[in-house]
Amino acid sequence: MGFSFNGVSVLMLVALMVNSLMVASAGNFYQDFDITWGDRRAKMFNGGQLLTLSLDQVSGSGFKSKSEYLFGRIDMQLKLVSGNSAGTVTAYYLSSQGPTHDEIDFEFLGNLTGDPYILHTNVFTQGKGNREQQFYLWFDPTRNFHTYSIIWNSKQIIFLVDNIPIREFKNAESIGVPFPKNQPMRIYSSLWNADDWATRGGLVKTDWTKAPFTAFYRNFNANACVWSSGASSCASTSSNSISNSVWQAQELDPNSRRRLRWVQKYFMIYNYCSDLKRFPEGIPAECRRSRFL
Ligand SMILES: *[C@@H]1O[C@H](CO)[C@@H](O)[C@H](O)[C@H]1NC(C)=O
Repeated sequence: MGFSFNGVSVLMLVALMVNSLMVASAGNFYQDFDITWGDRRAKMFNGGQLLTLSLDQVSGSGFKSKSEYLFGRIDMQLKLVSGNSAGTVTAYYLSSQGPTHDEIDFEFLGNLTGDPYILHTNVFTQGKGNREQQFYLWFDPTRNFHTYSIIWNSKQIIFLVDNIPIREFKNAESIGVPFPKNQPMRIYSSLWNADDWATRGGLVKTDWTKAPFTAFYRNFNANACVWSSGASSCASTSSNSISNSVWQAQELDPNSRRRLRWVQKYFMIYNYCSDLKRFPEGIPAECRRSRFL
């Protein structure tokens, strides 16, 4: 994807500057996460500063957070499976449990060497999803670590890539759309084989001669309300229970909204809100409300 127009390079520069000012207070994977499946395919290194997931023909692997969260800003840096990653999916998401669960998803769909990954996003509320938006990225996500973030407060959910908003899901309860606000969620990630659908709709299969496939994680940071024994750490009377609470009231300012529009204009490849064929009785209510969903 080449950039032939002015403005983008300036925008990228600003993004880089903002990014380098953000001090990610690195969490510790040993403290914050449990390996959930895949045996030795999931590993923690460097005293808990680095985590890797891998996938081979026998199994993928995954981890989840020890804590449950109800609202917060959650950042993680990922470096995705490089080379021929076709057929593989790296999922990184927040989810509550049960049949009416809420979920906020990033899924990275691999591709042949040199062909672009797809970043697939979705939001489930009360067990119902079908709110997919897909994007190409403006960089190669396999070369370096990049930061993938979710800001989740009672007014909206914002998905960010390197601090650039790519998607906003607003609280539209006033028009009857459920919003995730009562069910605490854990952070999950997994790397698995999905070559029946992931790459070019399932046309390109996983090349097992390239296994094991590996994805890398570092600099986890949750500036979030931890839910434990039915209470939120943010409700505690002791002050400073969360160090920095900008995210609690965060919404997109005009500059962030411009960036969101830039991403949606040049990098969005699928938006459920524009998929009229799929919703013959009319597009979902939240799509009618905002042009920027
Ligand atoms: C893989 O590359 C092809 C060809 O460029 C593209 O059409 C497709 O969207 C890419 N991503 C995935 C996950 O299929």
